[in-house]
Amino acid sequence: MAKKKTVFECIECGHQDPKWLGRCPSCGNWNTMEQITLRPGSVSGKSSSGNMSPGLSSKNSIMLHNVDISEAPRFSSGFIEVDRVLGGGIMKGSAILLGGEPGIGKSTLMMQIAGSVKINRNSEDSGKILYISGEESASQLKMRADRLGIKSEKIEILIESDLNRILDVLNKSKPELIVMDSIQTVVSEEAGKVPGTVNQVKFCGHSLISWSKNNNAAIFFIAHVTKEGIIAGPKIVEHMVDTVLYFDHSNSGIRFVRAAKNRFGSVDELGLFTMEATGLQEVKDPSTLFLIQRDDGMPPGISAVPVFEGSRALMVEIQALTVPAKSGFSRIYSDRIDNNRVSRIAAVLEKNMSLRFSDQDIYINVAGGMKLNEVGIELALACALYSTRTNIPFPKETAVAGEISLAGEIRPTAHMERRIKTALEMGFTRFIGPNSVETLHARSEHGIYKGVRNISESIKTIFGK
Ligand code: TYD
Ligand code: MG
Repeated sequence: MAKKKTVFECIECGHQDPKWLGRCPSCGNWNTMEQITLRPGSVSGKSSSGNMSPGLSSKNSIMLHNVDISEAPRFSSGFIEVDRVLGGGIMKGSAILLGGEPGIGKSTLMMQIAGSVKINRNSEDSGKILYISGEESASQLKMRADRLGIKSEKIEILIESDLNRILDVLNKSKPELIVMDSIQTVVSEEAGKVPGTVNQVKFCGHSLISWSKNNNAAIFFIAHVTKEGIIAGPKIVEHMVDTVLYFDHSNSGIRFVRAAKNRFGSVDELGLFTMEATGLQEVKDPSTLFLIQRDDGMPPGISAVPVFEGSRALMVEIQALTVPAKSGFSRIYSDRIDNNRVSRIAAVLEKNMSLRFSDQDIYINVAGGMKLNEVGIELALACALYSTRTNIPFPKETAVAGEISLAGEIRPTAHMERRIKTALEMGFTRFIGPNSVETLHARSEHGIYKGVRNISESIKTIFGK
């Protein structure tokens, strides 16, 4: 017979150790190690089916070519933006975490999804949705649903935080979509006395995920994220679920849903929303969202670049400002583009264009507050820096894209064709980018394209210097 094993686990971060320690070596907290008993055969106390993909619960092996995939494994959330971020809809039997700051609109989004999901409804009794709330009362939920104009008759409400009673209701009503608002409110006596600890969240999360996988239901866990960006208490949920979504907002009030982990799709997609009086509205054409409309000319220090967010291209405005360094050495203030990228591009300009940046404080911003992580923005960043330093405005009708090497060459960038199309659609009439084989076709098809080899050629072509 397998022997039960005990280990000590930190209630803050979940670190496990064979012996008791006064201080957790992982998170550094004192007196947080508690003794737990591992079930025989399990390594970490996890239930074995808890982390499995849907349809993995069968006891016997099966021939690959006999696997039946005729029943669609996904259903639509009713929101194109959410479906795209999930990789094509909600996967049956999957567990999804929706994290975000309090007030960002997590409960609103989930209630709207509950009201608009398109689950296959074979019979009267199928396609049920259970919205479990440990945070709000039934009347609060009803008031929100009314405000959102939700008329669905398939939504059941459960105001409960006790795991066993939740499981009882699940067994009785057999929903196909479950919303747990929030994971931090569920408690089980079996997982210790304190609610919200790693043990509780882990135990309750696994129980609910197991139920969902066994019943081919999809489950959403809402989780609060603190200002530091970490899910309050248990980061551990991220490891248990198939997909992790984060809900965040920009300075301009646009709300983003982004996948930080996705077992069933890419993590590059971005879903865009605005919060209106009647709930979250999808932003279906975001291409101009991050451009500031100006009737008169462009002020110096601003450039335009089409960027890729997942599968869509957006025009974005990069802004730069340099002022003589206050502290004797140069500092970079840039929270939308990585500081290292900014200082590298400034160094390339300094070397090739005889412009000094090393005695300047550099401020970089992106209109609309979007964070930019891709190499394709480097030429635009160089243009914004050059423009502010020389006081020559970037031409209004021009867009650029390209990566810059340390030697100052303009390197090919992915999706050039789509970038050029997006710029054209937005009314740009000139496009400067790498002079590469990849852009040959773009050059002949769109007469607006001009390929450049290096940074000084780019500056000459764009600014006429
Ligand atoms: P909520 O979904 O409660 O946020 P979370 O669950 O992430 O804490 O919504 C938060 C805010 O959204 C709240 O301040 C009110 C606002 N709101 C609207 O502006 N319009 C609406 O239709 C709804 C339902 C909420
Ligand atoms: Mg809420």
